[in-house]
Amino acid sequence: MATRCKTAVLISGSGTNLQAFIDRVESGALNLDLSVVFSNKPDAFGLVRARNADIPTACIEHGDFADRDSFDRAMAAKLDEWQPDLLVLAGFMRILGAAFVARYAGRILNIHPALLPAYPGLNTHQRVLDAGDKWHGSTVHFVTEELDGGPRILQGRLPVIPSETADQLAARVQAVEHRIYPEAAGWVGEGRVEYRDGRTWIDGAIADEPVVHTFDIDGRKR
Ligand code: GRF
Repeated sequence: MATRCKTAVLISGSGTNLQAFIDRVESGALNLDLSVVFSNKPDAFGLVRARNADIPTACIEHGDFADRDSFDRAMAAKLDEWQPDLLVLAGFMRILGAAFVARYAGRILNIHPALLPAYPGLNTHQRVLDAGDKWHGSTVHFVTEELDGGPRILQGRLPVIPSETADQLAARVQAVEHRIYPEAAGWVGEGRVEYRDGRTWIDGAIADEPVVHTFDIDGRKR
């Protein structure tokens, strides 16, 4: 993408990942144009974060629509007002329908709090603790129709502390997310990373394995 990548961030909640994007853009470390923040919930705190950063906001409540398709169509029509190059799902708690995903094929990113393909779905932190896994983390990936199943771009992994609670582990994983998500989105924005024929390409080569950053217990990158 030659010009500054127009980015829509889709949220449903607190928006700490959104804040990480805002902070990086404001400091000059991330070259994305944060064009709009979209929420399906009017009370999402991320909307406040966006307003504080002078980013336009849009909200459409999914409950006002009879089915997923009609909500998706309304959301696409709203997003089209900004003609985004890239959609960044940051805690957006709606499953996107096939038509919506096809419309923005290869231009939607998500972050999932697990080392995919392990632990798609919900409650990942508790499931990792219950399984006694040594490593956990988060994955930035392209969105396809398969939930949490699109091609991966970047993972941040960190050691699990067996005695910690799911909330403590979640907080450590989130700190990692705030590092890796803006980084991966920046790669896409500058055209280093692309989605082609259902696969991730990095620097012009197929990358079926994601880039992996390893962090220590205190969140320092190794
Ligand atoms: C993140 O942990 C992400 O992995 C998941 O939703 C959470 C969003 O958190 N998809 P926040 O709203 O960015 O704080």
